[in-house]
Amino acid sequence: MTQRRILIIDGHPDPDRGRFVHALADRYVDGAAVGGHEMRRIDIAAMNPSPLTSRTDWEEREPSAAIRSAQEAIGWAEHIVILYPLWLGDMPALLKAFFEQVLRPGFAFRYREGGLPEKKLKGRTAHIVVTMGMPALFYRIFYGAHSLKSLERNILKFVGITPVRRSIVGNVEGDGDIRDYWLDAIASCGRKGR
Ligand SMILES: Cc1cc2nc3c(=O)[nH]c(=O)nc-3n(C[C@H](O)[C@H](O)[C@H](O)COP(=O)(O)O)c2cc1C
Repeated sequence: MTQRRILIIDGHPDPDRGRFVHALADRYVDGAAVGGHEMRRIDIAAMNPSPLTSRTDWEEREPSAAIRSAQEAIGWAEHIVILYPLWLGDMPALLKAFFEQVLRPGFAFRYREGGLPEKKLKGRTAHIVVTMGMPALFYRIFYGAHSLKSLERNILKFVGITPVRRSIVGNVEGDGDIRDYWLDAIASCGRKGR
């Protein structure tokens, strides 16, 4: 098996370690350690990034030390695993703030005169793990998995990160067997570096 450099982004904004998303991130890390992969981890709850409030900030203001270090970790990684709970149909605002801060022009893409922007993070793959109260099938069919599509197409593919694997973890507030199944499935992804 090929060993990879993997960045795990735990996108749950709640520092309470009892949250299921933290348990999934921990199990991914455990699995990846068994698989011999190199890892770095970013915890959004600990970083607590502020949202951008202007285009000038996005394009010209120096990012904070924590954001620069996250950019360095993204630059280092071959594979990026992003875990978050679905909140009001989308990623939590703190995770969105993180992407706003980190994916700055110049770092993640470059404007080009009269053409499409240059994607600067090509060569990396990703895996999105999203948890939710509703059944996964309902989210896929009735809602068209729209927040996943937005993260994949408007954020990750826009900067060149592709292909993107999806794990849609539904019914997390119900049967404990479902959580156990997913903890094992995500640990297995960690072992395989997926
Ligand atoms: C603020 C908030 C908004 C939520 N919105 C949704 C939603 O739109 N759809 C859904 O299926 N579940 C929703 N949920 C349920 C969460 O997705 C679910 O509790 C979470 O994925 C469980 O993971 P955790 O233990 O890591 O928080 C919401 C929960 C909260 C707290």
